[in-house]
Amino acid sequence: MSKLLVVVGATGQQGRSVIQWFQQNEPSIRIRGLTRTPTSDAAASVASTGVEVVKADLNDFQSLQLAFKGANYIFAYTDSASIIKASASVGGSISTGQHEDSSTPAAPPPFYGIEVQQGKNVADAAAEVPELERLVWSSLANVKKCSGGKYNQVFHFDAKAAVAEYMFEKEGLESKVSCVLMGCFLTNVAKGLEFFRCRSETDKNGSKTAIWTPPFPASLPIPWVDVEKDTGAFVKALIEAPPKNQLLGVSEWMTFDEWATFWSDVTGVKSKFEDALPKEAPSTNGGFDFKAVLLQTGDFLTEFGFTGGDPNVVEPEELERNGTAIPRTKISDYMTREDWSHTLE
Ligand SMILES: NC(=O)c1ccc[n+]([C@@H]2O[C@H](COP(=O)([O-])OP(=O)(O)OC[C@H]3O[C@@H](n4cnc5c(N)ncnc54)[C@H](OP(=O)(O)O)[C@@H]3O)[C@@H](O)[C@H]2O)c1
Repeated sequence: MSKLLVVVGATGQQGRSVIQWFQQNEPSIRIRGLTRTPTSDAAASVASTGVEVVKADLNDFQSLQLAFKGANYIFAYTDSASIIKASASVGGSISTGQHEDSSTPAAPPPFYGIEVQQGKNVADAAAEVPELERLVWSSLANVKKCSGGKYNQVFHFDAKAAVAEYMFEKEGLESKVSCVLMGCFLTNVAKGLEFFRCRSETDKNGSKTAIWTPPFPASLPIPWVDVEKDTGAFVKALIEAPPKNQLLGVSEWMTFDEWATFWSDVTGVKSKFEDALPKEAPSTNGGFDFKAVLLQTGDFLTEFGFTGGDPNVVEPEELERNGTAIPRTKISDYMTREDWSHTLE
């Protein structure tokens, strides 16, 4: 019987990417993709490629027990954005607290607890699977711990790190887990988060300039990841390597200064970086403001680096030195394949 890979979030960027990578590179591995809504167009599109699509919800432990049955490998991640949205819609208090003042400890908002519980559900259900050889968890740095409590509101990082810690200590699972710490998605810039996108200015001669105003300093090296193409390669490498690995999922490092130059070379459109960030977080009035969280994330990255200086996190080159090939996309290739026309409208 061929091995079975179960992919949580089969309709999402990371899940779809892992599925496509294994279909192309490891066709003998069977794939089961999980979704909350098997009748959705996205799930139907996954099923049309031969994937066994199964209904499961990260909030529903029993659905995960059923969905993980017989799994040799599991790739799992949580989706902070949808948890925050759901939490807000039921009236959850999701204030991000203060930006600069680290003397006031911020109580974790409800969505933090929900994300941690979802990850623990994955861990507890996976630990019951006798055939399981590897669980790959999509994690991030423990910002609060790495910064000695200075940055205490980057909950979407800390929740994933808390889950990783739980998994590494969970009986029956501790020798089967590895993590990929996904870098900054390249898709953020073209399709995703509003504050990553550029705005366009047209001079009196009709010549356009793209102006990038992301929430990071221009000189900050960012570990970019081609989430659509490279996620599966990281997962495969972590299946092959011994457990307890923590791999930085980076396709290529690049500063935003370099980004602007590269992007102009590829598109032929003038481009520059502009630091337009407020130096203090906008007032959240008790509501959730992701920009405020990103500001603190940017401060953390600038001071401590993406992995917070955690010596246990390795870069792809280090796993490759042990004989595991991890093919990665060049950012210039991503820029060439992406359609930028809508960003310049
Ligand atoms: N953007 C970045 O630069 C970056 C970098 C590192 C890490 N991350 C993290 O990446 C995560 C998002 O990943 P993504 O962009 O790949 O996701 P995505 O494309 O937004 O898709 C989310 C997936 O999660 C599934 N899902 C959501 N809630 C679920 C639940 N309760 N039970 C089961 N499945 C559920 C959805 O499936 P259905 O709707 O079909 O059920 C969907 O497949 C976030 O947590 C973010 O913090 C982002």
